[in-house]
Amino acid sequence: MPASPIRRLVPYAEVAKSKGVKIFHLNIGQPDIETPAEMLEAVRNSTFKILEYSHSAGNESYRRKLGEYYSLANINVDHNEIIITTGGSEAILFGFMACLDVGDEIIIPEPFYANYNGFAVEAGVIVKPISSNIGTGFALPPPEDFEKIITERTKAIIICNPNNPTGYLYTKGEMEVLKTIVKKHNLYLFSDEAYREFCYEGEHFSSMQLEGVEENVIMIDTISKRYSACGARIGALITRNKTVLQTVLKFAQARLSPPGFGQILGEAAIDLPLDYFKKTKAEYQLRRDTLVKRLNDIPGVFCPNPGGAFYVMASLPVDNADLFCEWILESFSYNGATVMFAPGSGFYGSPSLGQREVRIAYVLNVQALNAAMDCLEKALEVYPGRILLE
Ligand SMILES: Cc1ncc(COP(=O)(O)O)c(C=O)c1O
Repeated sequence: MPASPIRRLVPYAEVAKSKGVKIFHLNIGQPDIETPAEMLEAVRNSTFKILEYSHSAGNESYRRKLGEYYSLANINVDHNEIIITTGGSEAILFGFMACLDVGDEIIIPEPFYANYNGFAVEAGVIVKPISSNIGTGFALPPPEDFEKIITERTKAIIICNPNNPTGYLYTKGEMEVLKTIVKKHNLYLFSDEAYREFCYEGEHFSSMQLEGVEENVIMIDTISKRYSACGARIGALITRNKTVLQTVLKFAQARLSPPGFGQILGEAAIDLPLDYFKKTKAEYQLRRDTLVKRLNDIPGVFCPNPGGAFYVMASLPVDNADLFCEWILESFSYNGATVMFAPGSGFYGSPSLGQREVRIAYVLNVQALNAAMDCLEKALEVYPGRILLE
């Protein structure tokens, strides 16, 4: 079981904190934006006498409301095509277990959300990475690259749109390319849309809007990021494929039910004023613009301008970003503070890729981001493993 690259450096951060150093946590996608008060109120105002198990697929009232939310995004699904899960995490795991046998292969454009590795291990599934790169801003690799690694055991592709860790927003054209591949080889297309509301360049095009692959597409969703409600542990698996739904439901029944309080939060979220996303999106966009500019202003640092989510992958002028991320926590501080990044290599399936890259989550406000970038800039000036780039 691979260690999470997001949490691996926690012991270094703990030592730094014990010495009184403030840490800017840009390593993990835990937003600092408050959970909407209306959602928390809905839980406080609940009057039931027994906190019961819910339906294994989730409360029908919530599934119906979630259907309304998707219809606003031009995705028409019936509540029976939605299964509520314990976070998007469980939806991914149930999806893998329902659709792939042990030893089957899943293709994932890398760098990718590192926990896909963990879910693949749990489901006995083999990850086949296919490389995207920083030079193209992490665009979808060409179809030939997919064709090259498709075997008899290939059963699925998973993408994350917009992407964690790269922030890349797949275009409608790229989604059509994926459609052609999954249709030709009869594969499942898992589409993780955890960050679907956070798109800054262009429109989000969901895999659920692809025509002619209704049986192939499985959408993964979660309320964790879009409402800053990570602790609610509420996600969903959405598909029009009845057989997949029936099988996922068996896994859902085995774990009895998704969280009760979390579903109340999730249902209340659907009634938030329409400008809720406008405000949060504007805040994230300001952070992205600040961060990308600050990074590209540092000599030797390169960061593409991502279209969505709240992450960037940046390359640093260092010999090994894993070591740099340890060093900056262990041996460096500026104005009493230092920064925690997630080393990029952990987001790649292929060995030796991403060694100069870090993933940065812009989950702190602009002032904190600027202070963190001051710190990075000063650190790179003195880092012993710095390399000179033309
Ligand atoms: C791409 C992606 N998918 C899924 C998840 C899982 O989210 P949760 O289980 O909190 O819904 C995350 C969390 O960071 C994520 O970034």
